[in-house]
Amino acid sequence: MDLTPEQHRMLDGDYGKATRKAMQILVTLGDIYSAQRLVPVSSVQVAGVSYDNLGEAGLHFLSEMADSGGQARVFTTLNPAGMDIENWQVLGIDPGFVKNQQRVLDAFAKMGIVTTCSCTPYLVGNVPHYGENIAWAESSAVCYANSVFGARTNREGGPSALASALTGYTAEYGLHLPEARRPEITVEVHAELVDTMDYGAFGKTLGEQLVNAGGKLTPYIQGISQVPLEQLKSFSASLATYGGIALFHMEGITPEASSYSPPAKKISIGNREINVAKQSMQGGDDDEVDFISLGCPHLSLPEIARIAELLRGQRVDKEFWITTARPIKQIADRMGYTAVIEASGAKFAADTCCVVAPLKGRFKVMATDSAKACYYAQTKNRFRTVFRPFDEIVQLAIAGGHVEQGGKA
Ligand code: F3S
Repeated sequence: MDLTPEQHRMLDGDYGKATRKAMQILVTLGDIYSAQRLVPVSSVQVAGVSYDNLGEAGLHFLSEMADSGGQARVFTTLNPAGMDIENWQVLGIDPGFVKNQQRVLDAFAKMGIVTTCSCTPYLVGNVPHYGENIAWAESSAVCYANSVFGARTNREGGPSALASALTGYTAEYGLHLPEARRPEITVEVHAELVDTMDYGAFGKTLGEQLVNAGGKLTPYIQGISQVPLEQLKSFSASLATYGGIALFHMEGITPEASSYSPPAKKISIGNREINVAKQSMQGGDDDEVDFISLGCPHLSLPEIARIAELLRGQRVDKEFWITTARPIKQIADRMGYTAVIEASGAKFAADTCCVVAPLKGRFKVMATDSAKACYYAQTKNRFRTVFRPFDEIVQLAIAGGHVEQGGKA
């Protein structure tokens, strides 16, 4: 790989031990993927933040980087941690875990990384623009940033994202290169897609079909005329989870779509496929639900406003987590949404989520509108899942609430 004089000096240790280690990681990755050079990144998003996933080995690596002088050279934010930094007692998180999670966050903070722990960094100020190279790690955010913003990032691992933060560079391969961003298969949509649940189911069935069609094909999606941000974030999360997809083009919606013609290879998705996907995530009855979670990916402010509207004057009788980024929660506080929601008995879980918090074995059946959360609830936490539309999930939480399938409480 061709390195600039500055990059050579980083590799030689002129900028300290941590920067040298970071540059070694990037050069090794570049060699593996035959990158010609390193390119500057405008922002970084680091995943692998929860102590539940990192363990002592991961914490040791971070502490070493922090103690040997590592400093972020570009704006860098974090993926969710294993706990709400302020509200962990209410959520029943073990104090021993809290201590270790705090050590992780302290190490990141020491490196100048912004400890906003969210998988929707684009809702809280980490917003790339079209054509910018970035180095993000959270799969749903990577898919969103590449597709909806037209920014350029591979799905980084924890160490490679940190390496980009400490150097300001990433190896130029994969989705940083225009030729790797071309669509490979046309997807004709003939289904009625309305809410976040619909788009989650769409992401699941499309992701699985793309895997069957040859694996990780970039789709060019036709047939959707309008789609709100919340549905796009749900779709991005699901497509990344079930298909390993980091980029999609949606005709009339995403900025790069107009640069391409629809590929000749085609598949079609209708209501039947969407319904099969929905059914595949139903693993329990409403009566069995003992945990409810909304906010995968982290909730936007309008979603929180909607929860407050539905919960006003109501009482919930199940553990109900509302997961979002801390700055969004702070606006919810100011708007009075938090007071309404907490008066019902529902709980905010900012900085964290139902997947990265240490919840294994704590509940039996989780209800959610998120296809991604269903996947990890089943595989990581061994919960069964009830998959329903957003409003119905809130109704399920309300004391005595019972929701007919597709109906109202
Ligand atoms: Fe975000 Fe956690 Fe879902 S990181 S995308 S809320 S699994």
